Amino acid sequence: MSDLSRPLLLVLAAVFALLVWRRWAPVSYWYLVVFPRKAVWLRWSWRHVASGCGLTKKRHRWWFTTVPGLVASTGVVRVKRRFQRVAVDTKPWMGLPRPVRHGFRITFHLLDGQIPDDYAKICDRLAHAWRIEAVRVVGSRPGRVTLQGITRDPLAYVAPAVPPTEPRDGWRMEDLLRPVVGVLETGAAWHMDFRLIPHWMNAGATQSGKSNLINALIVGLAPQPVALVGFDLKGGVELSPYLPRLTALATSRSECLNLLADLIAVMGARMLICRRLGVRDIWQLPDGARPIPVVVVVDELAELFLTADKAEKDQVTRTATALLRIAQLGRAFGIHLVLSGQRIGSDLGPGVTALRAQIGGRVCHRVNDPETAVMTLGDLDPDALVAARSIPPELPGVAVITGSDGRWYRARSGYVSTTAAERAANTYADLTPSWAQVAASGLGHELSGNGSPEIAA
Ligand SMILES: Nc1ncnc2c1ncn2[C@@H]1O[C@H](COP(=O)(O)OP(=O)(O)O)[C@@H](O)[C@H]1O
Ligand SMILES: [Mg+2]
Repeated sequence: MSDLSRPLLLVLAAVFALLVWRRWAPVSYWYLVVFPRKAVWLRWSWRHVASGCGLTKKRHRWWFTTVPGLVASTGVVRVKRRFQRVAVDTKPWMGLPRPVRHGFRITFHLLDGQIPDDYAKICDRLAHAWRIEAVRVVGSRPGRVTLQGITRDPLAYVAPAVPPTEPRDGWRMEDLLRPVVGVLETGAAWHMDFRLIPHWMNAGATQSGKSNLINALIVGLAPQPVALVGFDLKGGVELSPYLPRLTALATSRSECLNLLADLIAVMGARMLICRRLGVRDIWQLPDGARPIPVVVVVDELAELFLTADKAEKDQVTRTATALLRIAQLGRAFGIHLVLSGQRIGSDLGPGVTALRAQIGGRVCHRVNDPETAVMTLGDLDPDALVAARSIPPELPGVAVITGSDGRWYRARSGYVSTTAAERAANTYADLTPSWAQVAASGLGHELSGNGSPEIAA
């Protein structure tokens, strides 16, 4: 009896130790126990998986084969061996899997005729074949594609964003207009990159995390030398807490029209500066001479387009035209739009489809109906639509977004309460340029050849 119970006890103790390890140190457990096993299995099963996902190609090879031959005179079957050209399935070469926090990365050599998009299209198939949460294309170079396997949804918990507290001169110029607002599913930081994608659409049902993303943007942009401008037709309830850091806030329709007119005037002045100095956009001007970039945040776009009577209809048309002009020309002159709303589609009015076509950045939170997902993401991959429609309500802040590489990603904004965003707005209130400073910035350089003092703040 004791002979049997000792090994049994040892096995039980080992299983218990593994369970404790997995529970209390999941990261080292993943790197040292699960990943090595997975890596061996991935390589071992690659031939079947590649063939099942349609990644193999038929190639003719010279092969030493066994050919049965009938000797006619005796009727005996004799086996001959000889070289023969036969068609064989060739699979893409798989590099060594490398572990990352919530999964692994693998580089593949593309077969002739394959492109990285062929892999992007079959990510779902690969995820099922590999028994993991998701697979994404995370990089490519000529002839190579890198995939990331995601074993556990890293968006299930995202640490709250912390308003920056470092000294202000520790701030780097290359981060200008590239605030981090959350994390991507791949574990990388989610930079909302206004320099690359000038305008963004922030869509989603109520309680899906739109306002949280605006809060994260306020926290990210408040320490930077940019002007923040708000449009909030919900009577200012959403954006007025951030007033200390806002250069302007419009809360009624007439204020909106005036502010849009002012923005277009600023854009016109900047256009003139660029033309006189012979540059195409303000980013070609030296750092010290550049006009202050403006980020325009519109909360609930639909409110801007609602019409009750004929007089309002005219106002709405003017609003739509003004927004469209800013969307078309804003990038070159440092005026960026963030349009937030539950639905951003043609049902809001005739101008919205044209406006949407100018907005390259898409953030689609959980939506109530498939049409809204199509409106927001329709021109991306159909898989992006599936991903957007499967965002669960218990994960607010999760969204499908366009990445800087033009591909779509699942991402989640870091939680930022209104109080935290308000604190950031107050902390950096002295960086708020006045409207006069915004309008005059860049002009000093044009007149005197010196850098404008405003941007140096
Ligand atoms: N990234 C996030 N992480 C955790 N909780 C979030 C996140 N985004 C939003 N929430 C929570 O979800 C709720 C709704 O978010 P909110 O931004 O107000 O949605 P919306 O503006 O789309 O109606 C808020 O109470 C907030 O606490
Ligand atoms: Mg909201």
